Amino acid sequence: MVFGSVAREYARYRPGYPPEAVLWAVGRGSGARVLDLGAGTGKLTAAVVAAGHEAIAVEPDSAMLAELASEVPTADAVAGSAEDIPLPDGSVDVVLAGQVLHWVDPDRAYPEISRVLRPGGVVAGLWNSDELRWIERLGGTDGTDEEFDWRGFFPTGLFTDESHRSFANPRPHTVDSLMSTIATHSRFLVLDDAEREKRLSSVRSALIRGLRDPDGEFEVRSRTYVIRATKR
Ligand SMILES: C[S@@+](CC[C@H](N)C(=O)[O-])C[C@H]1O[C@@H](n2cnc3c(N)ncnc32)[C@H](O)[C@@H]1O
Repeated sequence: MVFGSVAREYARYRPGYPPEAVLWAVGRGSGARVLDLGAGTGKLTAAVVAAGHEAIAVEPDSAMLAELASEVPTADAVAGSAEDIPLPDGSVDVVLAGQVLHWVDPDRAYPEISRVLRPGGVVAGLWNSDELRWIERLGGTDGTDEEFDWRGFFPTGLFTDESHRSFANPRPHTVDSLMSTIATHSRFLVLDDAEREKRLSSVRSALIRGLRDPDGEFEVRSRTYVIRATKR
């Protein structure tokens, strides 16, 4: 599994999700039964629980799931995947997936998501903007991310009323903390050790070159992008 080798670092450094994004994605303030699909170490699960919902976390990677169980002990943590969700038909009000839907097999995952949702239930994909792109733009622009436009994301045979919104999710960082975050991105995890070190070192140099004060703290103006739809 790609992320399991850095499960601890993932839990420590990766961004969470703003409460307003979770509120908009779920569609109500508390009391929903929410499946967090591909829950990883529980970043989104924690936000779901904090809002007062019942959370079921499904995750295929055992190291990530172990981290989740200690980070969010009140969630129901279950091994499984988007293509094979270990839940009964119509058993959840909402399915959320944080930075996951680009990993799934859409032909198998979307019918599964529809199956576990109750009639009229909601599915939402959430993505935090990419820190590496933020660094790439530091030299040229103001470092903000561009708008995200994935209209027509969910298959219309299964889902309707698709809508999109983004939410500010700023984070304070130092060069070291931002580099530790970037080192948990899958594009680096799939490289061999020497190549990973070489690429991370060149990203670090670009970051230092782009910052006014590389020894201080700075704000990464990330956003959380949400695509939401209703089960037909
Ligand atoms: C980028 S991480 C996101 C984790 C967490 N949702 C978050 O927001 O921090 C992607 C997660 O998706 C999981 N994953 C990969 N393929 C999956 C699949 N087919 N079904 C469900 N989860 C999957 C990975 O194991 C990993 O934990």
